[in-house]
Amino acid sequence: MKVIAKKDELSRFIKEAGLSPVGFVPTMGVLHQGHISLVENAVSQCPLAVVSIYVNPTQFNDKNDLRNYPRCLPDDLKLLAGAMRENDVVFTPDDWEMYPEEDKRVFDFGNLGNVMEALHRPGHFNGVAQVVSKLFDIVNPDIAFFGQKDFQQVAVIRELVRQNGYKVKIIACPIVREKDGLAMSSRNQLLEPQIRLDAPVIYSSISAAAEKITARDIPSLKNKVKRDIEKKVGFKVEYFEIVDDRELIPVASKKEMQAGKRYFGCIAVKAGRIRLIDNIEIPL
Ligand code: PAJ
Repeated sequence: MKVIAKKDELSRFIKEAGLSPVGFVPTMGVLHQGHISLVENAVSQCPLAVVSIYVNPTQFNDKNDLRNYPRCLPDDLKLLAGAMRENDVVFTPDDWEMYPEEDKRVFDFGNLGNVMEALHRPGHFNGVAQVVSKLFDIVNPDIAFFGQKDFQQVAVIRELVRQNGYKVKIIACPIVREKDGLAMSSRNQLLEPQIRLDAPVIYSSISAAAEKITARDIPSLKNKVKRDIEKKVGFKVEYFEIVDDRELIPVASKKEMQAGKRYFGCIAVKAGRIRLIDNIEIPL
């Protein structure tokens, strides 16, 4: 695979390759099997696959989080070499390449910007939209692959595509988990040892909630999830909401869930100093 750091060179390379569909996987690096599953999808569905690795400063509302975000390009390239073909491309721009000047665009995603992650990470999705729109402009992909792990991000990206008329198909890929159930994340390696051992409680609690949806109503389910997780020392639930997958409107009772829509239980947990998110489909 080729590694290209300059956006003009990348756009030229993709145009000259003349292949379609072009598949695109944006990432922030420290790649794991979750990312690689997206890359494998792109490679199997597209004759040209492009992966970007860029830690986007504008989506970090917490500057400490940005400073501590792990980075390891040599390992990332090794892992990608096992999944990509000779002619596929990895894009590794620097800040100057992505933000030669300050990006002052402000996006409005309606309700998507008023729930869950948006409330706890102000400005986060604006930064995601800034960088993803720039990347879409550079790569001009036919298909872009995102992980269902970042549930709200997928909804925001679909809305970004709709509002801006991008001709890209968005495919959401299933969450890849560690053997013990913890959703893979670049942040998992920052967890303290005991917190890491206890972290599977997040997935086991939301899985139990998904199974018990008919027996218990939503407020009591939410309390149970919170209680079960907070029994572990150092764990604090920021939110657990059951929402539909398009507008992300929280439902307060089983009766509000409408046939024909899909619902997901979405959670954010502070595990020690690290913030983890996860979600699970809630059957109707
Ligand atoms: P990052 O956190 O590196 O994730 C890149 C992609 O990998 C996202 O689409 C994310 O949902 C997916 N992913 C992460 N963990 C996963 C898992 N366990 N299973 C399946 N997919 C997983 O998300 C971002 O970067 C950034 O916000 C980005 C879109 C690159 C914009 O900067």
